[in-house]
Amino acid sequence: MSGFPADLESAIAELREERGALLLAHYYQEDAVQDLADCVGDSLALAQAAQRADSQVIVFCGVHFMAETAKILNPETRVVVPDLAAGCSLADGCPPDDFRAFLQRHAGAKVLSYINCSAQVKAMSDLICTSSNAVAMARQFDGEKLVLAPDRHLARWIGRQLGRDDLIVWQGACIVHEQFSARELAKLRVRHPEAEVLAHPECEAAVLDQADFIGSTAKIIARSVQSPAETLIIATEDGVFHQIEKRLAEAGKRKALVQAPGMDESCACNRCPYMRLNTLEKLYLCLRDLSPEVTVPEPIRVKALRPIERMLELSA
Ligand code: 13P
Ligand code: SF4
Repeated sequence: MSGFPADLESAIAELREERGALLLAHYYQEDAVQDLADCVGDSLALAQAAQRADSQVIVFCGVHFMAETAKILNPETRVVVPDLAAGCSLADGCPPDDFRAFLQRHAGAKVLSYINCSAQVKAMSDLICTSSNAVAMARQFDGEKLVLAPDRHLARWIGRQLGRDDLIVWQGACIVHEQFSARELAKLRVRHPEAEVLAHPECEAAVLDQADFIGSTAKIIARSVQSPAETLIIATEDGVFHQIEKRLAEAGKRKALVQAPGMDESCACNRCPYMRLNTLEKLYLCLRDLSPEVTVPEPIRVKALRPIERMLELSA
């Protein structure tokens, strides 16, 4: 693209050094962005990396709620993102005013919010969880009235693990994980009877019911390498394939990786449209200009910090 250095990756690496920036990337970023990062991980690992950060700048290649969490943990640090419009259907589907009214209808309940929500929603929560620690975090509220927000599929999965059918659930969903088709998956399993099915807990129940392994992106990646199966059917965003392939190569293993089928074969719906707004070009501009910056009003930040820190303490 004109106006950009010919070797964009080297230019980004140089700018990162010059700026003293820490580059964090989620597994759903494009391969080249993952390879440039100081730390690539799932939501929990990235929140932990942000907590440990001592740089002047954090460049967050992920979606807005992840960068916002980094800012909440590092109020003095400049947190920038390649594209401020990189949102999340779960966060967008839980507007703070509506959530406040929902909580008023369930007075007395504790609130466990999935990290995929806005700072305002975090500020109304007792504890935050990610997909890798959700069940353990929910166990903190054994015997208590509990609101789970904003992912109904994750909430159902947690309820099943805990044997609880009394959870009060905000009815949000991830547009990427909801598009995997249980019907097409069943057909695919007939063609690959030996395959292991790995799924993210944001998938709907009829997909999760067919999974041999359910876990966060980091857990899916680790299991893909450790599993004895030679064919893996994977129901999550296809950014994870890059890490799985890298780690299989490091371990000297070869496996057939099959993306779980979606409902509409004509679209790349297994790619998160928000995550994929971040491009190498925007990452370059973001490092060059140290913008766009993520900010959180201080009164909200202080309230949102407590449940995030509590989660990090419980997950250490
Ligand atoms: P992880 O917690 O597995 O990183 O999931 C984040 C996410 O947005 C899944 O869609
Ligand atoms: Fe949000 Fe789903 Fe994208 Fe994850 S994959 S960031 S939950 S829209």
